[in-house]
Amino acid sequence: MKCKITNNKIKNVISFGKMPLANGFLDKKDFKKEFFYNLETGFSEKLSLFQLNDHPKPKQMFNIKYPFFTGSSKYMKSHFQKYSKMIKGLLKSNSKLIEIGSNDGTFLKNFANSKIKSVGFEPSKNVSDIAKKNKIDSRNKFFSYKNILNENSFLNKTDIICASNVICHIPDLKDLIKSIDLLLNKNGLFIFEEPYLGSMFEKVSYDQIYDEHIYIFSASSIKKIFNLFDFELIDAIPQITHGGSMRYIISRSKNRKASKRLSKILDYEKKNNIDNFESCKKFKKDCENSRDNLRLKIKKLKENGKTICGYAATSKSTTILNYCNIDSTMLDYIADTTPEKIGKYSPGKHIPIVSMDHFRKNLTDAIYLFAWNHKNEIFKKEKKILKKKINWFSHIKL
Ligand code: TYD
Repeated sequence: MKCKITNNKIKNVISFGKMPLANGFLDKKDFKKEFFYNLETGFSEKLSLFQLNDHPKPKQMFNIKYPFFTGSSKYMKSHFQKYSKMIKGLLKSNSKLIEIGSNDGTFLKNFANSKIKSVGFEPSKNVSDIAKKNKIDSRNKFFSYKNILNENSFLNKTDIICASNVICHIPDLKDLIKSIDLLLNKNGLFIFEEPYLGSMFEKVSYDQIYDEHIYIFSASSIKKIFNLFDFELIDAIPQITHGGSMRYIISRSKNRKASKRLSKILDYEKKNNIDNFESCKKFKKDCENSRDNLRLKIKKLKENGKTICGYAATSKSTTILNYCNIDSTMLDYIADTTPEKIGKYSPGKHIPIVSMDHFRKNLTDAIYLFAWNHKNEIFKKEKKILKKKINWFSHIKL
């Protein structure tokens, strides 16, 4: 599928080659029929938008068994608690709230004991069912114009629409913004947070790029996109989640004043070429260097007879393993807490996914921390292992 926003000219940035679905953890019997596509990125200068040139269909990615659970990180749970406090501060007791991509209900749970009327849209059935069990009003559907038309109690009456790490998953931004326009009341706000392009460039965290992340946004791109539709970016608030994210606040045009913080961020993006193609050229070289250094590091460890495992079978790890061609001759296994992943194999490179119990009983000489964005939480719980002479590493400086 091609990305839909406008028919802009897209300049190629970097190709990561043949790639499987980032969350396509699979059984041995399914190796032969595994799906691959070309992971290629581009940049629209008109919109300052970093994006995938092509991507698999959303239904292929967000289906009955989506193996990502927001509640799997303690830190993310507390992040969403704080986020909900900020949102509550903007709402009245009888306000209306929608979450796009409500997953297992981790965020909406914080509104359960209030009079705020809330509803979540979640296309993946397994996680939507968990939310329903927790008494969250979860629609097991994609958030789209067609799917919101019968939400009569929310049409033109919604005070806030929220989303976290999900807007970058939606290929058709026109349909998204049309839906938001129909739902929000006159003074309504659209508030969402996403991995930040500036952080990805700075950290060379190219593992943020995979099938589900169709766009990597910046304040400059969000401003330009929403201006096309009579909406306005009024604030941007940096977040430390997912290795560097940005929370964007959007209102209807000429409804509120933009913050000073936003103008500082826009200036920063201009100064650092985040709003133009120059930074993309540098990023391409940085990714290639990062890949070469990582392969060299692993090669040296193996030449010295060391064993290596991976910690956390993240979606992000799929890009690294396949782009850098790291397979089960290099990593013995990847340990993860998610029952749905344990016993399966990593997409494309087919490294076994094992439990944390297996990890503790079969410690290796070196550990590749794929969930580098959860380093603080993980190092806190792995204190005992950290005391041992084990080399923890990642493609990002730990
Ligand atoms: P995360 O970086 O949140 O997201 P993504 O998969 O989108 O890159 O990683 C989530 C995965 O990491 C999930 O499979 C659970 C695993 N994980 C652990 O195994 N242990 C942990 O302590 C944490 C925080 C995550």
